[in-house]
Amino acid sequence: MPKYTIVPGTEVPQTPFYYYDLDLLRRTLKTAADEAGKYGYRIHYALKANVEPRILAEIQRAGLGADCVSGYEVRCAVENGFAPQQIVFAGVGKSDREIEYAIRAGIFAFNCESLQELEVIDELAAKQGKVVNAALRINPNVQPDTHKYISTGQSESKFGISYTEVDAALAKLHELEHIRIVGLHFHIGSQIRKMESFAELARRVNEIAEWFESKGVELKHLNMGGGLGIDYGDPDAEPVPDFAGYFRTFRDNLRVREGQTVHFELGRSIVAQCGELITRVLYTKTTAGGAHFAITDAGMTELIRPALYSAHHRIENLTAEADRQPRPTGLYSIAGPICESSDVFARDIEFPESRRGDVLSIRSTGAYGSIMASNYNMRPIAPSLFSDGE
Ligand code: LLP
Repeated sequence: MPKYTIVPGTEVPQTPFYYYDLDLLRRTLKTAADEAGKYGYRIHYALKANVEPRILAEIQRAGLGADCVSGYEVRCAVENGFAPQQIVFAGVGKSDREIEYAIRAGIFAFNCESLQELEVIDELAAKQGKVVNAALRINPNVQPDTHKYISTGQSESKFGISYTEVDAALAKLHELEHIRIVGLHFHIGSQIRKMESFAELARRVNEIAEWFESKGVELKHLNMGGGLGIDYGDPDAEPVPDFAGYFRTFRDNLRVREGQTVHFELGRSIVAQCGELITRVLYTKTTAGGAHFAITDAGMTELIRPALYSAHHRIENLTAEADRQPRPTGLYSIAGPICESSDVFARDIEFPESRRGDVLSIRSTGAYGSIMASNYNMRPIAPSLFSDGE
């Protein structure tokens, strides 16, 4: 596991801060690119997971494209060196301004999520005298094994064009002169660890693609979205996610036609394990019921995943680990300073006796950590530090 370590005799910088292990990021990127490369698959990194410029630079250098979900992310990708032709733009609510900007930037394709959106993109492309590429995001109605807030491909969810509407979408595309359909897009959810969910997606895609082909539509690209999960719990788990198993699942289940390219949009699996949130214990206390709390200087403003999804992140007491004298352990709840009862990182975990000033690390927070930070309680955004000292 990547580790921020306390070096005796040196001071820990002002907490809270995010710390990123760039070597692990590079190792992860190399594995992902090598495994995808075996089958000619292409990865677009989902910027929504983390947009630290240093991290984007590594990802861009590794040859990945960019998957964006707002005009701001499109601009961020362009500013961080991604070629417009390597950028795709998804999202259920793209505003006119964002669409206009992306057309002007000359991105590779829009992943379109409704019939109305197709009309709007067509109209805005016409104004710029352009014909733009679009992939239809189809809701495949596959239920993955993950938290309901991060499941996106079920018939009742807001994402994508429903399979009941594909006829109408095709008819609409025949009318529109400024949109060229280049493929299909799918995304069933995030933090999915059972490969069977992806196999099921691939099999659904085979049926859907066949239907489109039977209507004479040439599908140049199939975009399988993202969603590969990581191990949040096991301290000894290999930190590089199982890209080999993930891409092999598609190789074994997805039918790919001659000349067709397959795209993926991975976020979490690329950046989660290389990041950790470093925080200090401000106070310790014991409730009337006997529960021990360690109150930290990071809270849900720095990392909202536990409060929002009851997500589990491993926490370590770095000061206790560095101490020569072993400390007794007990059951502790680790909570932030925010005025919300949900601002708790972990409840009743076996933890070394904690003291004011102890430095803790909250692991596997490189994805959907700093990017989801807020200024609630007027708190400033925590800075980022990198393993090379910057
Ligand atoms: N493509 C689309 C269309 C998506 O909606 C997402 C994530 C991805 C790709 C990237 O998925 P990934 O490979 O990272 O699983 N904030 C939540 C996760 C939300 C994911 C939203 N969509 C969390 O902290 O768990």
